[in-house]
Amino acid sequence: TGDGELCPTRLMVNNSDKVNGRQVFPQHSVEGWKINSSLVLNIRKDILRFLDAEKDVSVVKSSFKPGDVIHYVLDRRRTLNISHNLHSLLPEVSPMKNRRFKTCAVVGNSGILLGSGCGREIDNHDFVIRCNLAPVVEFAEDVGNRSDFITMNPSVIQRAFGGFQNETDREKFVQRLAMLNDSVLWIPAFMVKGGEKHVEWVNELILKNKLKVRTAYPSLRLIHAVRGYWLTNKINIKRPSTGLLMYTLATRFCDEIHLYGFWPFPKDSIGKPVKYHYYDELKYRYFSNASPHRMPLEFKTLKMLHSKGALKLTTSKCL
Ligand code: CTP
Repeated sequence: TGDGELCPTRLMVNNSDKVNGRQVFPQHSVEGWKINSSLVLNIRKDILRFLDAEKDVSVVKSSFKPGDVIHYVLDRRRTLNISHNLHSLLPEVSPMKNRRFKTCAVVGNSGILLGSGCGREIDNHDFVIRCNLAPVVEFAEDVGNRSDFITMNPSVIQRAFGGFQNETDREKFVQRLAMLNDSVLWIPAFMVKGGEKHVEWVNELILKNKLKVRTAYPSLRLIHAVRGYWLTNKINIKRPSTGLLMYTLATRFCDEIHLYGFWPFPKDSIGKPVKYHYYDELKYRYFSNASPHRMPLEFKTLKMLHSKGALKLTTSKCL
């Protein structure tokens, strides 16, 4: 078929999560894992047909001028004005331009990290990517400290920083960003309407406090391109999760990608409960059909890629 030519590195995944109607929590082996460098290169090449992470990771200053009106990526009927503050925080060039790393960690937020002791291993990678401003200090032993690149969905402000209702919330936020130094802060601000007020407040705080963090805002085409890549591999993900987006981007910059904190299941492989997030009390909400994400399908895909040596997925304790 045409898409066979487009995407020679066929990724085969079995789409069923259930055996005899029961949810299965898949195990996989970490011992004896070996990188398959030619597969890594093929995947990078295939993904490059859909997106160039170096560019699509962020729009740049010259993409817009203040006052421009854009349509939200996932809600085309609604629009957003590019404010002066937002424009002033757009990078001049991609924050990932010419950056290449031997090994990278992509850290998801599953409670499977608790008690893992993976902190040191995670921090030892050349580049550490985290999601949704997840806290690290209190969990350093299990999750590490370093964040070279961290995402922040606008909804995080409501969820973890009280919607900036009072000064303490704002201070907590400023302190969190100050810890990041000049890491990349990646804010998907153009996806859906709803968080624009929060994004503006974030921008104001960054400017007012002269924070060094390097802001990035994904290109308007990124999510469709990522979805397209996985779809061509017969993996139909309505809306890729942040974790899968980060893996997809990382294939451009990293020769060896290690994933931690990916476990979208309420129990571990021996039936012990696992928190949805390692740091808060949020419950599993992604199993209904109404949910935009298909994390168990994503997980199965990542597990298959692990077994082929394209990436290393750690879901157990680190030695
Ligand atoms: N994740 C996972 N298992 C969990 C929780 C999270 O595999 N129990 C992965 C997912 O890839 C997720 C990423 O870790 O995108 C970051 O987690 P989180 O901040 O919870 O992302 P969500 O807000 O749930 O989803 P998104 O930001 O993608 O909308």
